[in-house]
Amino acid sequence: MIIIDGKKISSDMKQELKHSVETCRQKYNAVPGLAVIIVGEDPASQVYVRNKAKSCKETGMNSEVIELAAETSQEELLSKIEVLNADPDVHGILVQQPLPRHIDEYAVTMAISPLKDVDGFHPENVGQMVLGNLDKCFISCTPYGILELLSRYNIETKGKHCVVIGRSNIVGKPMANLMLQKLKETNCTVTVCHSATQNMPELTRQADILIAAIGRANLITKEMVKPGAVIIDVGMNRIEDASRKSGYRLVGDVDYEHVSKTASAITPVPGGVGPMTIAMLLKNTLQSFMQAQGAAQSL
Ligand code: GUN
Repeated sequence: MIIIDGKKISSDMKQELKHSVETCRQKYNAVPGLAVIIVGEDPASQVYVRNKAKSCKETGMNSEVIELAAETSQEELLSKIEVLNADPDVHGILVQQPLPRHIDEYAVTMAISPLKDVDGFHPENVGQMVLGNLDKCFISCTPYGILELLSRYNIETKGKHCVVIGRSNIVGKPMANLMLQKLKETNCTVTVCHSATQNMPELTRQADILIAAIGRANLITKEMVKPGAVIIDVGMNRIEDASRKSGYRLVGDVDYEHVSKTASAITPVPGGVGPMTIAMLLKNTLQSFMQAQGAAQSL
């Protein structure tokens, strides 16, 4: 059984990115810059945003965290995005989700320039991704990170049955689309399960590769998994744990203790998919920077 070490791969990638950023500095006298906006004080989001900024600095990129009060109006947020869209030193813009209820996530997604949409949420990027034009888009960071893990662990995917559980715009939908495509690390037969799926265990037991992204602690039990399957756990669920100082601990969507005994490979939580999301965000920011240089040179 292989434990897929996302923490290690993410750290390797950050080292690689650090070299690339240094090359940017020498060649262009500039480095990639990422702006992260957080609205309100959701504690989990605050941790994610802090980690994104910290990782940015580790690779030598510039990072700007913009903290806005929970009462910030949609108009104010959109005008802040406009300023960042026009700022040549900002190559990536990310607005942390979830947003307060009075703000329309779709309007925010549409406001970010597709050229700086390092989250890959804008319809332009989603559309190019679905069409298979992966060199013309930003790929959503969590699915992109999972592709990177499958690739770096040489996990055979061609012709395999991949079952994705969850249909969110951030993970499930792009993940299923990518697994379907004719790429080295994909080319699967794909099934997507969700909250209205009947007989889910019957489907999950057919999976050679099972990707769980539903946000329900320990939903995937050993009985739902085919022996020898590859298990990718995207879940980040906080459950109460009085023995911890914080009062909680993080668990995935998969019952790791039991499923790991039957799987051929599995991502742990924490330390699996989570750190990869950040690494791919930085990779997308570098890609955006390089594209901006290309555009400037051709002027
Ligand atoms: N909230 C949870 N994951 C993400 C992500 O990948 N991007 C953004 N913008 N918000 C998130």
